[in-house]
Amino acid sequence: MVSGRFITLEGGEGVGKSTQIRALADALSARGVEAVVTREPGGSAGAEAIRTLLMEGSDDRWDARSEALLFAAARADHVATTIRPAIARGAWVLCDRFVDSSRAYQGGGGGITDADIMALHGFGSLGLLPDRTFLLTVSRDEAARRLSLRDAAGADRMGSKPADYQARLAARFSEMAASEPDRWRVIDADAPAEAVTAAILAELSAWLP
Ligand code: TMP
Repeated sequence: MVSGRFITLEGGEGVGKSTQIRALADALSARGVEAVVTREPGGSAGAEAIRTLLMEGSDDRWDARSEALLFAAARADHVATTIRPAIARGAWVLCDRFVDSSRAYQGGGGGITDADIMALHGFGSLGLLPDRTFLLTVSRDEAARRLSLRDAAGADRMGSKPADYQARLAARFSEMAASEPDRWRVIDADAPAEAVTAAILAELSAWLP
Protein backbone atom coordinates (compact mmCIF):
# COMPACT_ATOMS: atom_id res chain seq x y z
CA MET A 1 0.00 0.00 0.00
CA VAL A 2 1.15 3.58 -0.75
CA SER A 3 1.81 5.53 2.43
CA GLY A 4 -0.45 8.47 3.08
CA ARG A 5 0.97 11.94 2.49
CA PHE A 6 -0.05 15.41 3.47
CA ILE A 7 0.66 18.06 0.83
CA THR A 8 -0.29 21.73 1.11
CA LEU A 9 -0.31 24.60 -1.37
CA GLU A 10 0.26 28.12 -0.12
CA GLY A 11 0.57 31.62 -1.54
CA GLY A 12 -1.30 34.87 -1.90
CA GLU A 13 -4.61 35.36 -3.63
CA GLY A 14 -4.88 34.48 -7.31
CA VAL A 15 -1.77 32.28 -7.63
CA GLY A 16 -3.75 29.29 -8.98
CA LYS A 17 -3.74 26.94 -5.98
CA SER A 18 -7.16 25.44 -6.61
CA THR A 19 -6.43 24.79 -10.30
CA GLN A 20 -3.17 23.03 -9.35
CA ILE A 21 -4.82 20.95 -6.64
CA ARG A 22 -7.39 19.63 -9.11
CA ALA A 23 -4.67 18.78 -11.63
CA LEU A 24 -2.59 17.03 -8.95
CA ALA A 25 -5.60 15.01 -7.80
CA ASP A 26 -6.14 13.84 -11.39
CA ALA A 27 -2.47 12.88 -11.71
CA LEU A 28 -2.58 10.90 -8.45
CA SER A 29 -5.82 9.14 -9.38
CA ALA A 30 -4.25 8.14 -12.71
CA ARG A 31 -1.49 6.42 -10.68
CA GLY A 32 -4.07 4.62 -8.52
CA VAL A 33 -3.52 6.80 -5.45
CA GLU A 34 -6.54 8.03 -3.51
CA ALA A 35 -6.42 11.84 -3.46
CA VAL A 36 -8.44 13.82 -0.93
CA VAL A 37 -8.87 17.41 -2.08
CA THR A 38 -9.58 19.83 0.70
CA ARG A 39 -9.13 23.45 1.71
CA GLU A 40 -8.87 25.83 4.62
CA PRO A 41 -10.68 27.37 6.27
CA GLY A 42 -13.08 24.45 5.79
CA GLY A 43 -12.76 20.83 4.73
CA SER A 44 -15.06 19.33 7.38
CA ALA A 45 -18.62 20.11 8.47
CA GLY A 46 -17.55 22.02 11.58
CA ALA A 47 -14.76 23.88 9.80
CA GLU A 48 -17.04 24.90 6.92
CA ALA A 49 -19.45 26.39 9.48
CA ILE A 50 -16.57 28.37 10.98
CA ARG A 51 -15.50 29.41 7.43
CA THR A 52 -18.85 31.16 6.99
CA LEU A 53 -18.23 33.12 10.21
CA LEU A 54 -14.78 34.12 8.95
CA MET A 55 -15.59 35.00 5.34
CA GLU A 56 -18.82 36.93 5.73
CA GLY A 57 -19.51 40.29 7.29
CA SER A 58 -17.58 43.51 7.64
CA ASP A 59 -13.78 43.87 7.75
CA ASP A 60 -13.81 44.61 11.49
CA ARG A 61 -16.14 41.76 12.45
CA TRP A 62 -13.37 39.95 14.37
CA ASP A 63 -10.41 41.34 16.26
CA ALA A 64 -7.03 39.78 15.47
CA ARG A 65 -7.03 37.31 18.39
CA SER A 66 -10.59 36.10 17.84
CA GLU A 67 -9.83 35.61 14.15
CA ALA A 68 -6.66 33.59 14.90
CA LEU A 69 -8.64 31.38 17.31
CA LEU A 70 -11.39 30.79 14.76
CA PHE A 71 -8.86 29.71 12.10
CA ALA A 72 -7.17 27.41 14.65
CA ALA A 73 -10.52 25.93 15.74
CA ALA A 74 -11.55 25.27 12.13
CA ARG A 75 -8.16 23.63 11.52
CA ALA A 76 -8.45 21.42 14.60
CA ASP A 77 -11.78 20.02 13.41
CA HIS A 78 -10.47 19.61 9.84
CA VAL A 79 -7.35 17.76 11.02
CA ALA A 80 -9.24 15.46 13.39
CA THR A 81 -12.15 14.53 11.13
CA THR A 82 -10.75 14.75 7.57
CA ILE A 83 -6.95 14.92 7.34
CA ARG A 84 -5.68 12.41 9.92
CA PRO A 85 -8.19 9.66 8.98
CA ALA A 86 -7.33 10.08 5.26
CA ILE A 87 -3.57 9.85 5.84
CA ALA A 88 -4.10 6.83 8.10
CA ARG A 89 -5.84 4.90 5.32
CA GLY A 90 -3.05 5.66 2.84
CA ALA A 91 -4.62 8.56 0.94
CA TRP A 92 -2.79 11.69 -0.18
CA VAL A 93 -4.36 14.81 1.27
CA LEU A 94 -4.03 17.85 -1.01
CA CYS A 95 -4.92 20.91 0.99
CA ASP A 96 -5.44 24.46 -0.29
CA ARG A 97 -3.84 26.46 2.58
CA PHE A 98 -3.00 25.27 6.10
CA VAL A 99 -1.29 26.64 9.23
CA ASP A 100 1.24 28.58 7.12
CA SER A 101 -1.63 30.78 5.94
CA SER A 102 -2.37 31.63 9.58
CA ARG A 103 1.34 32.38 10.07
CA ALA A 104 1.32 34.69 7.02
CA TYR A 105 -2.09 36.36 7.36
CA GLN A 106 -2.76 36.49 11.11
CA GLY A 107 0.90 36.39 12.13
CA GLY A 108 2.40 38.63 9.45
CA GLY A 109 -0.38 41.15 8.95
CA GLY A 110 -2.58 40.66 12.01
CA GLY A 111 -0.10 41.37 14.81
CA ILE A 112 -0.09 37.86 16.34
CA THR A 113 3.36 36.34 16.87
CA ASP A 114 4.47 33.21 15.05
CA ALA A 115 4.99 31.53 18.44
CA ASP A 116 1.35 32.25 19.35
CA ILE A 117 0.07 30.82 16.05
CA MET A 118 2.19 27.68 16.54
CA ALA A 119 1.02 27.34 20.16
CA LEU A 120 -2.62 27.41 19.01
CA HIS A 121 -1.71 24.86 16.34
CA GLY A 122 0.03 22.66 18.92
CA PHE A 123 -3.06 22.62 21.10
CA GLY A 124 -5.74 22.43 18.39
CA SER A 125 -4.13 20.14 15.82
CA LEU A 126 -1.36 18.54 17.91
CA GLY A 127 1.12 20.40 15.73
CA LEU A 128 0.48 18.41 12.55
CA LEU A 129 2.68 19.68 9.70
CA PRO A 130 2.57 18.80 5.99
CA ASP A 131 5.10 16.40 4.45
CA ARG A 132 5.58 18.99 1.72
CA THR A 133 4.39 22.55 1.21
CA PHE A 134 4.44 24.23 -2.19
CA LEU A 135 4.64 28.01 -2.30
CA LEU A 136 3.16 29.22 -5.59
CA THR A 137 4.58 32.61 -6.51
CA VAL A 138 3.38 34.98 -9.22
CA SER A 139 4.52 38.42 -10.28
CA ARG A 140 2.52 41.34 -8.90
CA ASP A 141 0.96 42.11 -12.29
CA GLU A 142 -0.10 38.53 -12.91
CA ALA A 143 -1.68 38.24 -9.43
CA ALA A 144 -3.62 41.47 -9.97
CA ARG A 145 -4.83 40.28 -13.37
CA ARG A 146 -6.05 36.92 -12.01
CA LEU A 147 -7.68 38.51 -8.99
CA SER A 148 -9.62 41.05 -11.01
CA LEU A 149 -11.01 38.18 -13.11
CA ARG A 150 -11.89 36.09 -10.03
CA ASP A 151 -13.32 38.91 -7.95
CA ALA A 152 -15.30 40.61 -10.71
CA ALA A 153 -18.42 39.65 -8.75
CA GLY A 154 -17.05 41.15 -5.48
CA ALA A 155 -14.32 39.97 -3.11
CA ASP A 156 -15.15 38.22 0.19
CA ARG A 157 -14.18 39.55 3.64
CA MET A 158 -10.68 38.00 3.62
CA GLY A 159 -9.90 38.67 -0.05
CA SER A 160 -10.68 42.38 -0.20
CA LYS A 161 -7.26 43.65 0.89
CA PRO A 162 -5.09 46.24 -0.99
CA ALA A 163 -2.14 45.43 -3.26
CA ASP A 164 0.60 46.44 -0.79
CA TYR A 165 -0.91 44.02 1.73
CA GLN A 166 -0.64 41.26 -0.89
CA ALA A 167 3.01 42.20 -1.47
CA ARG A 168 3.81 41.95 2.27
CA LEU A 169 2.11 38.57 2.38
CA ALA A 170 4.18 37.32 -0.55
CA ALA A 171 7.34 38.41 1.29
CA ARG A 172 6.24 36.64 4.48
CA PHE A 173 5.56 33.40 2.59
CA SER A 174 8.98 33.58 0.95
CA GLU A 175 10.65 34.05 4.35
CA MET A 176 8.88 30.99 5.76
CA ALA A 177 9.86 28.89 2.75
CA ALA A 178 13.50 29.96 3.08
CA SER A 179 13.58 29.19 6.80
CA GLU A 180 12.34 25.59 6.40
CA PRO A 181 13.76 24.36 3.08
CA ASP A 182 13.19 20.64 3.78
CA ARG A 183 9.43 21.05 3.86
CA TRP A 184 8.91 23.88 1.35
CA ARG A 185 9.36 24.06 -2.42
CA VAL A 186 8.91 27.36 -4.23
CA ILE A 187 7.21 27.08 -7.63
CA ASP A 188 7.07 29.85 -10.26
CA ALA A 189 3.34 29.99 -11.01
CA ASP A 190 3.58 32.66 -13.72
CA ALA A 191 4.28 29.70 -16.02
CA PRO A 192 1.37 28.00 -17.87
CA ALA A 193 -0.77 25.81 -15.59
CA GLU A 194 0.45 22.52 -17.17
CA ALA A 195 4.09 23.49 -16.58
CA VAL A 196 3.33 24.35 -12.96
CA THR A 197 1.65 20.95 -12.43
CA ALA A 198 4.65 19.21 -13.99
CA ALA A 199 7.04 21.11 -11.70
CA ILE A 200 5.06 20.10 -8.60
CA LEU A 201 4.83 16.46 -9.69
CA ALA A 202 8.58 16.39 -10.32
CA GLU A 203 9.12 17.44 -6.69
CA LEU A 204 6.85 14.60 -5.51
CA SER A 205 8.25 11.92 -7.80
CA ALA A 206 10.24 10.13 -5.09
CA TRP A 207 7.01 9.39 -3.19
CA LEU A 208 4.87 8.45 -6.16
CA PRO A 209 4.18 4.81 -7.06
P1 TMP B 1 -9.40 31.36 -0.27
O1 TMP B 1 -10.41 30.27 -0.13
O2 TMP B 1 -9.67 32.31 -1.38
O3 TMP B 1 -7.99 30.90 -0.23
O4 TMP B 1 -9.68 32.32 0.98
C1 TMP B 1 -9.29 32.05 2.22
C2 TMP B 1 -8.94 33.38 2.82
O5 TMP B 1 -8.69 33.20 4.21
C3 TMP B 1 -7.69 33.98 2.21
O6 TMP B 1 -7.84 35.39 2.13
C4 TMP B 1 -6.62 33.65 3.21
C5 TMP B 1 -7.38 33.65 4.51
N1 TMP B 1 -6.81 32.75 5.52
C6 TMP B 1 -6.25 33.30 6.67
O7 TMP B 1 -6.26 34.52 6.84
N2 TMP B 1 -5.75 32.46 7.61
C7 TMP B 1 -5.77 31.10 7.48
O8 TMP B 1 -5.29 30.37 8.37
C8 TMP B 1 -6.34 30.54 6.28
C9 TMP B 1 -6.37 29.06 6.08
C10 TMP B 1 -6.85 31.41 5.33
